[in-house]
Amino acid sequence: MDKFKITGKSRIAGEVTISGSKNAALPLLAAMILPNGESVLHNVPTLKDTETLIKLIAGTGVAIAKQGNTVVADARCVTDYYAPYELVRTMRASILVLGPLLARFGEAEVSLPGGCSIGSRPVDQHLKAFEAMGASITVENGYVKAKAPAGGRLIGCDFSFDMVTVGGTENAIMAAVLAKGVTRLQNCACEPEVVDLAKMLVTMGAKIDGIGTPTMVIEGVDDLHGCEYTVISDRIETGSYLAGALMSEGDVLTKNTSAEFLYPVLKKFESMGAIITTGNDWIRAVMKGRPKAVDIRTQVHPGFPTDMQAQLMAVCCLAQGTSTIIENIFENRFMHVPELQRLGANIKVDGHAAVVVGVDSFTPAPVMATDLRASMSLVMAAACADGESIIDRIYHIDRGYDDVENKLRALGVNIERLKG
Ligand code: UD1
Repeated sequence: MDKFKITGKSRIAGEVTISGSKNAALPLLAAMILPNGESVLHNVPTLKDTETLIKLIAGTGVAIAKQGNTVVADARCVTDYYAPYELVRTMRASILVLGPLLARFGEAEVSLPGGCSIGSRPVDQHLKAFEAMGASITVENGYVKAKAPAGGRLIGCDFSFDMVTVGGTENAIMAAVLAKGVTRLQNCACEPEVVDLAKMLVTMGAKIDGIGTPTMVIEGVDDLHGCEYTVISDRIETGSYLAGALMSEGDVLTKNTSAEFLYPVLKKFESMGAIITTGNDWIRAVMKGRPKAVDIRTQVHPGFPTDMQAQLMAVCCLAQGTSTIIENIFENRFMHVPELQRLGANIKVDGHAAVVVGVDSFTPAPVMATDLRASMSLVMAAACADGESIIDRIYHIDRGYDDVENKLRALGVNIERLKG
């Protein structure tokens, strides 16, 4: 397993170009199964997760290829509606092919993704939405088998999610666009990545009202056509690099990104003392002195995103004063705490709350990445520690951060990949 060797202490400063959003690209790639034609998707990040999904989609017979950051997919000759365990188990978001396959072919067989390090993460809401559209669902030998009603087409319905779920909303939208009749989805996730998916589907000919609101009304169409679309920039990658500036009296300019999607995070950065300036497609964070302590509660959009919790915690570790962080989205998303403690942080966890007492500096140590976003909090913390740290299990970071070593080097981080 590869590791990172990081030698601090660095001032994190410089310019970095942000890639396309991982969490938007995954549903958009899955949506490329839907049209009876060829689609072109630009700004797709080069990541383990996008590679896995492309492999999975290719397995259904879609002619799909990625060149640079552009993916071309011709879904006219789909032959198979099966997503095997070997691929699904490496990436939970593989479940996003269930909606498109079921909508297009009236049948789908997708391995259940299972739990992951940040929680059990069931997909019951995805399945309930399909059932509401008339699908019969069985789970056999670890596979979800879904079948549309007689005639092979899902039927429009009224459905309200029991909780706000990003993936559940995305899967339900992709199923509803080809259903017979009107589907009214309530308590939908409003995350920018859900909005991006809905916009791409509209360019394919889908009829969707209420995009970006909790209630979406979708009038099913008989067929979708191919389209050309560009993935939005990655708000979490943006926030992760900006956080580095706050931890190191640094100065980070993120380009090819948008402040629109990062508002709650930028507001927190400001209350911690950072000077944030923004333009049409850039955000800059400049930090002078130590950050101030803050209180954070993760919430669904437009609240503070859970995917920035670990990185903000790393900033709080160096803040003047005591911060409180409440994790409301996932039940087990403090796995990075013991690792940050190894780097000298003072953190106490009680259930969903973490109390962080700021320390003057991190100290180098060997640590282990525990999940995707947690890995970045450890990388940044190690960069701010005076000496050499080793970060193990960095396959997590390879899943979600495009060209991470080069981008970190451009920001002054002394980082080396140790092949294992
Ligand atoms: C997506 C993001 C992930 C982010 C999360 C929350 C992708 C690929 N991943 O994950 O980075 O952290 O949104 O913003 O876009 N739940 C259920 N039943 C369901 C579905 C969800 O109980 O059927 C629960 C989950 O266990 C979790 C919460 O709802 O506690 C939110 O999950 P969800 O919004 O679905 O997250 P993902 O789509 O998996």
